[in-house]
Amino acid sequence: MKILELFAGIGAVAHAVSERYEIAAAIDINENAKTVYRANFDHRYLTREIASLSDDELGEFGADLWWMSPPCQPFTRRGKQQGADDPRAQPMLRVFDAIENLQPKAIVLENVVGFESSPAWAAIREIFVRASYRYHRAQLCSTMFGLPNARPRFFVVASRDEEIELSPPPFVAPEPLVNFLDSSEQAKRWHGQVEVDSAFVCKYEDGINVVDQKSTLTRCFTSAYGKSHVQSGSYLKFQNSNGQNRFRRLSPTESLRLLGFSSCYQLPDGLSARQFWKLIGNSVSVPCVGHVLGCFAQTTRNR
Ligand SMILES: C[S@@+](CC[C@H](N)C(=O)[O-])C[C@H]1O[C@@H](n2cnc3c(N)ncnc32)[C@H](O)[C@@H]1O
Repeated sequence: MKILELFAGIGAVAHAVSERYEIAAAIDINENAKTVYRANFDHRYLTREIASLSDDELGEFGADLWWMSPPCQPFTRRGKQQGADDPRAQPMLRVFDAIENLQPKAIVLENVVGFESSPAWAAIREIFVRASYRYHRAQLCSTMFGLPNARPRFFVVASRDEEIELSPPPFVAPEPLVNFLDSSEQAKRWHGQVEVDSAFVCKYEDGINVVDQKSTLTRCFTSAYGKSHVQSGSYLKFQNSNGQNRFRRLSPTESLRLLGFSSCYQLPDGLSARQFWKLIGNSVSVPCVGHVLGCFAQTTRNR
């Protein structure tokens, strides 16, 4: 099955695919995302404004499955919730048009919880009905796969040929955060970029979430994790060699692990922790992607 990875970012979908899938192409506007993607995968990656792609250009990839994880800001509680009227929703609406015109075999759309009450959801649902797609939706979260990080997301799977059921994943007990932390050797890479002082923690006490290495849940981190002080992710409390309490952000490599990226995934040199956090905070939980793709494989096996 050939996949077109739209809004590809750093490639959570490419990272999750098994041998039975092939990435026909990945498309995203962000050059830093391409740099990270390129360090890991060698298939075609176009840095393009998706709203400018014609039907012909999209059709030329010959993909069976279009996976789209469009910008979530138009639909988040922190954003202004302008939904489909937000200019950032325009590339997604362009893809909706192309779906109606080209009718690829299957679609997966991933977004924040809350998307399902937006006009954009109503619009794509109407297209599914007009173009005879059968669809199923589900809420999936990294925590369902044992990862100690909350990242609830809305997924819809639509197919023209066969009905793809989004079955719930089997329960997996959450692992403690310590299993996801950098070794002291790995931590050297982020030295000076992750630490926050205790005064900061006192000042923002009410607005930040502090965890320790035994914690089995951390907050969903956003693309603003390295920039915004509050509501963008958890802070780790630890003791320094003198036994004093210290606080730091979870490093980019730790954030990646919490999203389910494996140790073979590389973060290339040349980007700062803040640039990586921006990309990783926009990415998708890898086991959630794997689970959705597994539902396609399951349907094919049962035929
Ligand atoms: C929610 S993130 C999806 C990330 C991705 N799936 C991953 O695994 O990292 C949305 C992505 O859409 C990209 N994007 C936003 N507006 C775009 C546009 N107009 N054209 C192309 N890509 C765009 C962003 O650069 C970002 O990488």
